[in-house]
Amino acid sequence: MRKIIIDTDTATDDAVAIIMALKNKSFNIMAITTVAGNVDLNQATSNALYTCEICDKFVPVYKGESHPLKRKLETSKFFHGKDGLGDTGPYEPSKKAEAENATNQIISLINKYPNEIEIIAIGPLTNIAKVFKYEPSVIKKIKSLYIMGGIGVGKGNITEHAEFNFWVDPDAADIVLNSEINIKMIAWDTTQIYGYLNKKNFEDLEKINTTLSRFAINIQKKGLEYYKIKYNEHKIDLADPLAMAVMIDDDDTNYRRCNIKIILDGEERGKDIISFNKNGNIKLATHVSRTNFLNTLKKSLA
Ligand code: RIB
Ligand code: CA
Repeated sequence: MRKIIIDTDTATDDAVAIIMALKNKSFNIMAITTVAGNVDLNQATSNALYTCEICDKFVPVYKGESHPLKRKLETSKFFHGKDGLGDTGPYEPSKKAEAENATNQIISLINKYPNEIEIIAIGPLTNIAKVFKYEPSVIKKIKSLYIMGGIGVGKGNITEHAEFNFWVDPDAADIVLNSEINIKMIAWDTTQIYGYLNKKNFEDLEKINTTLSRFAINIQKKGLEYYKIKYNEHKIDLADPLAMAVMIDDDDTNYRRCNIKIILDGEERGKDIISFNKNGNIKLATHVSRTNFLNTLKKSLA
C-alpha cells in the first residue's frame, strides 16, 4: 500500500479528488492536511471531514495554515461558493480535526516512514513550504511530491498570468518548487486539455446514480453556472481530480523536466516561469491520459 498525505484547500474539485483517493485500494491515506485557499481554513477542514464521511472512511484531518506565508488570504468563493461546495449544503461533518497541526503531523509522518510518504498538494503550497522551512531535513525523506498548480505553458485562471494555487501564495510556491525535491506537477494547461467534464461526461456520471456520484455532480453547480455565463458551455475543468488520477496511475502521463521561477509581485504575481532542461527537478506533465482520468473518476463514484 502507498502511504499518502493529501494537502488540500477542500472545495468542489478537491472533494472529488479526495473521493478518488479514498476509493483507491492501493492508497493508505495517512493524513489529510488542510490549508486556506478556495475557502478559509475552517471551511476547508469541514469540507474535508465531510468528504471522508460520505465515503464512509475515517482519515485523520489536520488543520494547517489559515493564510499565505506573507499575504492576506484571497479565496475563490466566487467560483466554489461560500461553503466551497457550490453552496449546495449544508454539509455538517460529525467528526472534528485532530489537535496536532498539519506542519508537525507531516514532519512526524515523514520521520516515522522515511522514503515511504507520497504527498499530493492540491491547494496553495503554504503548509508544504512551512514544513520545508521548519524542518528542511525531511525534504530528502519524501518519496514523491505531486503538485496541482501553475499555468504550465498556458494562460492563468485567476489572472491571465497565474493559476490560483500559485497566485494565492507565490512565496510558498517559490520555496517548494526551488527546494531540491523532485516534483511531478500537473498544471492548469493540461487540466483544460485532459481534465474537463462536458455535457456528455456529466450525463455518463449521472447514470452512476450513487450517493457519491450525486454529491460530486451537485457540488459543481456554481462552477457550471460560472462557465455557462463566461463561456456559454456546460463544462468544468477538474484540476485536482486530474492531478489525483496522475498520482494514482501515471503510466500514460508524459512529462518534461524543468526548473521553475515564480514571480512574486506585480501584475504577473504567481506566474510560473518554466525553463525546460533535462536536469530540472520538476517533471511538468505535458500529456495526461483523458481515458484514464475519466475511467478512474467513474470507478471512484460507483
Ligand atoms: O487552479 C485550480 C486550483 O485552484 C485547484 O486546486 C482548485 O481547487 C483551486 O484550489
Ligand atoms: Ca484545490
